Amino acid sequence: MPNKIILKKRILNFNRKISIPGDKSISIRWVIISSLASGISKAYNLLMSQDVIASIKAVQKLGAKVYIDKNVCTIHGVGIKGFNYKKKLVIDAQNSGTLGRLILGTLIDTPVPIKIIGDRSLSRRDFKRVSKPLSKFGASFKLRNNYKLPLIIKGSKKLKSIKFFENKGSAQCKSSIIFGGIKADGKTIIKAKKSRNHTELLFKYLKLPIKIKKNKNFDIIEIRKVNKIKPINYKIPSDISSAAFFIVLTVLCEKSKLIIKNVNVNPTRIGIIKILRKMGVKISLLNKKIYKGEPLADILVISPKILKSINCPSNLNSGAIDEFLVIFLIAAKAKGISIFRNLEELNKKESPRLIWGSKILKKMGVKVIRTKNSIKIFGNPALKINKKVVIQKYLKDHRVFMTSVIAASAFGGEWHIHDKDSIKTSFPSFLKIVNLLKK
Ligand code: S3P
Repeated sequence: MPNKIILKKRILNFNRKISIPGDKSISIRWVIISSLASGISKAYNLLMSQDVIASIKAVQKLGAKVYIDKNVCTIHGVGIKGFNYKKKLVIDAQNSGTLGRLILGTLIDTPVPIKIIGDRSLSRRDFKRVSKPLSKFGASFKLRNNYKLPLIIKGSKKLKSIKFFENKGSAQCKSSIIFGGIKADGKTIIKAKKSRNHTELLFKYLKLPIKIKKNKNFDIIEIRKVNKIKPINYKIPSDISSAAFFIVLTVLCEKSKLIIKNVNVNPTRIGIIKILRKMGVKISLLNKKIYKGEPLADILVISPKILKSINCPSNLNSGAIDEFLVIFLIAAKAKGISIFRNLEELNKKESPRLIWGSKILKKMGVKVIRTKNSIKIFGNPALKINKKVVIQKYLKDHRVFMTSVIAASAFGGEWHIHDKDSIKTSFPSFLKIVNLLKK
């Protein structure tokens, strides 16, 4: 089977109701926390993508028993002190920064060295951002070039609490330290720039000793040592980062309407909704409810007649961090020049996404000015593509692939998009849903 797709047809318009697979961040957190629980946890609608399967394999290596039957995943947790630390253990985080960084926090008590490896994309990403604070607990690390995978972690029996200032807005770093904090004596204090808070909500739901004070730009999180974690059954809601591709497709296809059911609309994740509303898009949240502390809703989006450009406030960056590639497509069709700033973190994802966002737009014929951390996009409401566009060698970044498919479906042209398998990372059924909207 060729691992490239060729797209030549625009999607004209649609009026549909769709469902999207489970949230990746919550799925990975549920797998890790269930493996540390004392007892049996079940998840329904767990995302069955490579990142989550890699997480399952990781906790299996550490001794948890995992069973998958249709739509239910069952994990027999080993207890907070129960990881089976065997000699020569290697954990393959594959493409997943979330797995690689979060699991490290849980390993700070390993008496034997554990090696963490990843694929080509993950092996170029920074791990010092977690190894540095985790070493303050008492764990020791060896990293390639002092900050990259493969790395080796060796824990300590005497773990002391730490104070940590997380200033990048990285939920992965924050969560890694929270996982470390439950194994260390005393009170760990994290001052963290706002970022997704699924770990904190899960801990609160489980009545673990976590306290959160919210300030305007930062949260102060206090966490204490934990002796026992209760099992947790969880119905995983849909992932807004996957829904984002179809929200954007609806906006770009004229006279279209879409309902996406039961999506996680945690305030730390809805940057895309806030940004698109500022650009003139009508998005409503229907049937709102709270599930285990997480806000859920059906998302209704209607394509607007006119799209306005945006001078995007940087305080929306963290809540839309995984969505900027598709948001840039909206800016390409907006009336006027859009500006997005302070996006240095975007180049530290599965691929350098600020660079790739600008590359895709340039290939589409859109005028773009990019700096190290910002991008200016010159929009054109009449944008159509009539040429061949080839997308390849992008480190198999799933979101580069999916963004390209949305661009092809909305703007036309003849697109040759390589590395189709990349969608297995986060959204294996992505192309099936695209095809559904063609009908
Ligand atoms: C994630 C946090 C974000 C995000 C990633 C998932 C998480 O990364 O980009 O896709 O689940 O904690 P950073 O923490 O590096 O910003």
